[in-house]
Amino acid sequence: FQPKTLAGKHVLITAGPTFEPIDPVRGITNLSSGKMGYAIAQAAWEAGAIVTLVSGPTALDTPYGVRRIQVQTAQQMHDAVMAQLNQSVQHRQDIFIAVAAVADWRIANASEQKLKKTSDSDVPQLQFAQNPDILAAVAALPDAPYCVGFAAESENLLQYGAAKRLKKNIPLLVGNIGHHTFGKDDNELVLFDEQGHTALPRADKQTLAQNLIAEIALRTSLI
Ligand code: C5P
Repeated sequence: FQPKTLAGKHVLITAGPTFEPIDPVRGITNLSSGKMGYAIAQAAWEAGAIVTLVSGPTALDTPYGVRRIQVQTAQQMHDAVMAQLNQSVQHRQDIFIAVAAVADWRIANASEQKLKKTSDSDVPQLQFAQNPDILAAVAALPDAPYCVGFAAESENLLQYGAAKRLKKNIPLLVGNIGHHTFGKDDNELVLFDEQGHTALPRADKQTLAQNLIAEIALRTSLI
């Protein structure tokens, strides 16, 4: 049983990887499983929030009580998030938690048709284009919700975490200890806010998600 620390709050969460097509049957993606984002969505619902989860492709079931919007690419994830934020004032999102491992680049010259192997020496030339930074775009909105970002740094987390929070211009940044968290069932987090940093000790992703939601509730209880 979870205390209803987010009762009535609207929480918008991104989770999972994005998939950037090369052609109709191929693409680039990453090893994010979506487990952490889905666990956070579940914990937010258990804490009484109205939760919308914008998810890239994952093998996970929609958490109970959560509304899931399925997307594939970073651009689609960006557009789905912005559409949620543009809804009427009654549906204002109070908290945005960006957990998705968004692809930094998409294929600029993706093919409408399946690329054919024409010869052994001929290889396709892929060009990359920058994807939108969804978290930065939300944080820059004039009426931005309380924004929480994630970072996976392999070294100097304490230094980079604090710097990334300032660079992204967000009140709370959550650092994964180590970068081998993708697909794992447990994790260890460090929270960076304007006061400094606090550790959430290693636990399964469900417990960590509940602890993180409690920390977010503490920091947003006045908004
Ligand atoms: O800059 P970096 O990719 O390390 O930042 C990670 C944080 O930014 C995560 O919260 C991630 O969900 C978010 N992000 C995003 N859109 C991107 C890239 C990252 O929302 N295009």
